[in-house]
Order: sequence, then C-alpha cells, then structure tokens
Amino acid sequence: MPADLRVTFTGLRFENPFLLASAPPTESDGNIMRAFEAGWGGVVTKTIGLHPVTNVAGPKTKFLRAMPDSPQLSMQKRPGTALHSSWNWELISDKPLDWWIGRLLRIKKAPPEKILIASIMAGSGSDEEMRHWQTLAKACQADGADALELNLSCPHMDRPDMGSNIGKDDELISVVTQVVKEVATIPVWAKLTPSTTDIVVEARGAFLGGADAISSSNTFTSLPVIDPETLEFEMNVEGLVSTGGLGGPAILPLSLAKMAQMTGAFEDKEFSGIGGISEFPHALNYFLLGCGTVQVCTAAMLDHAVGPTVIRNLIRGMEEFLEKNAHRGWQKLDDFRGIRRNRIVSHSKIKRPDEAHYHGGYDAEAPATAGSGNK
Ligand SMILES: Cc1cc2nc3c(=O)[nH]c(=O)nc-3n(C[C@H](O)[C@H](O)[C@H](O)COP(=O)(O)O)c2cc1C
Repeated sequence: MPADLRVTFTGLRFENPFLLASAPPTESDGNIMRAFEAGWGGVVTKTIGLHPVTNVAGPKTKFLRAMPDSPQLSMQKRPGTALHSSWNWELISDKPLDWWIGRLLRIKKAPPEKILIASIMAGSGSDEEMRHWQTLAKACQADGADALELNLSCPHMDRPDMGSNIGKDDELISVVTQVVKEVATIPVWAKLTPSTTDIVVEARGAFLGGADAISSSNTFTSLPVIDPETLEFEMNVEGLVSTGGLGGPAILPLSLAKMAQMTGAFEDKEFSGIGGISEFPHALNYFLLGCGTVQVCTAAMLDHAVGPTVIRNLIRGMEEFLEKNAHRGWQKLDDFRGIRRNRIVSHSKIKRPDEAHYHGGYDAEAPATAGSGNK
C-alpha cells in the first residue's frame, strides 16, 4: 500500500504536512505557484500588513557558515563550509494588501487542493490598530485564504506594540487573537516568538484568545558576528547594526525545546513546527513531539528560492519512514505523532548511577518540605 502523507490540521486537509514558512520563498504569487508545483502541501504567505515598509539599505539576509577545521563562524563564502544558520533583518512584505488581493484568489484557484495560509500583522496600541487586524483578516479570507497566521513574532520591530513585542505579552496575544477570531470564518494560527522566558505562558494566551493552532519558532533574536580583522559586524549598514533573527540548522535544538514545552503542556492542541528543518529526520523531531505540520524557510531559500529539492527529499523521507515502520502498524502521521513528548522530564527525574546521593540540587539535610525532586 502506498504511504499516506495526508494530514488534517485545524480542520484543513493537506496532501502532505510540509509547508513553506512565511518568508522570501512565499513573497510573490510566482514563487507560491512554483512551490505548489514542486510539491509543498501548503504555504504561509510572506507577512502582509497595511502600511508600506522600507527595508535597510543593504542585504536583508546572509548565511553563517562553519568550517570543519576551524572554530571560526563567518558569513564570508568559503569552500568546504557547512551551513550554520541564516541571519536576517528583513521586514514584512514590501507589497501592500492591495497587491496581494486578487493574487491570493488566483493562487487559490489554480491548485485548489493546495492550502494557502495568509500571514498578517498589525499594531496593537489602539482600537484602530486592532481594527487593522480585522481588516487584514477579512480581506485575506474573502480572497480565498484557507487560514490566517498571526505574526506575533517578527523580531526586528522598533514599535513596542508590534511583532515579537506582542508575542512577549500574553494578554496582548490573547486580545489580538480574540479580535481576529471575532471576524474569522477560517482557522487562526498564532505564530509565537521564541524570545520569551516560558513560552507556555504565551501559548496559553493564544489559546485563551481562541487560536486554533500555534506555529513556532520564528527566528531567534541575535546579532551578526564581528569580523576579527575589520572589527565590523559582518552585516551592517554604514557600520551600524540592530538585532535580527537567527534561523536554519543552529536553531533546530532551540526551537525543539520551545515546542516540547508547549506540546507537553497542551496535549490536545495543534502545533506547526518551524526551525532548522531541511530533511525528514529534522521534521520527524517535531512530529514525535506532537506537531501536525511543519514549516521550512532557510533551507528553501538556499534551494532555488522555493525548495524543490527540499520538498522532494521531505516527501521521500516520510514515505521511506512509513515503509520502514509499516510493521508497527504506522500508516500515517497520526500513528506516530507525539509519541516522544512524554520522554521530556525534569532533570532530577533522570536516573543517576547513585540515586541515594542526589537530592535535586538541595542539601541532603534540607527539610522534607523543600523536596528532593529526586523522584
Ligand atoms: C529572510 C527571512 C524573512 C522572514 N520573514 C518572515 C515574515 O515575514 N513573517 C514571519 O512570520 N516569519 C518570517 N521569517 C521567519 C521564518 O518564517 C521562520 O520562522 C524562521 O526562518 C525559522 O525557520 P527556518 O529555520 O526554516 O529558517 C523570515 C525568515 C527569514 C530568514
């Protein structure tokens, strides 16, 4: 029997669980159509806003590379290097809502079985700003979007009421999600920032506001490294830099830790995993933690802009995985989704060679109420 890659996520039927994340690969209708032809099950558009944006006067994204025989990480292109991460300070779509309207409809009509998610973003500092979320949501859903993803996670916004600054405030997350849910007739996903202390708090805010799913992670707040020769940041404009976002291989373990916190806390909720995925084994991590879809950005950017090889390998990897595990009765993602989430426990619950001498960091003589945390 051929492997069944189909999944149902937030009520939507995907032909496979692999999506392009909101980023340059989905910045235009041309790219999105190519992505669908290449085999992606769905796409999240580059984030759409109401106001024009102007990017910095210089490159928006660069790739940090590592060498096998040197500790140096650098954005300089050198032979024999391996990709470490992407670093970007790109803002949301530089095309206004009007540009997208009509195009979303055409994209959706061309291959109707492909899933189109519109990523949207507005401010949150006033009632009017809140209404902007509704304007964006209504326009995108009327134009054929199957779901909305709320960008509560862009890491390079000066405005204190936008992007990851919303994503750091669980009450604001709740309010924004609720405001969109008031007008949405399609599922609403909340994309959270990993730059918080305990992401379970922000996830709870999103679910209280009515989010149908959480997407995580956006890029991690970071700086480009300084060149030891020139003493300049490897990415700068006239010597100046601001914080931007780290993506790609380096963030896979970081993003998994964030995801595990959430899927452990909300076992009955839906999650879309993002961060460091280029091959099926990476995606498998997210699935085993409980995610129902995954999204890819950096790897696709480096593969003909929309990731034709990446999606081919993801699909083949999942088919082979299902064939290899057919003897376990696994025929589809739901048969193995989440089976490793309960393996993550507190440190003191991990077996020691000599349990008797470990008291979870507490003094052995500490009163019983402090708890040893050792059991
Ligand atoms: C150049 C660039 C632009 C991005 N733009 C957006 C965006 O507009 N909206 C958004 O939600 N995420 C954006 N992201 C974040 C990605 O969607 C994704 O969450 C992140 O890159 C982690 O995935 P990766 O490790 O596969 O790159 C962007 C990432 C990059 C590298």
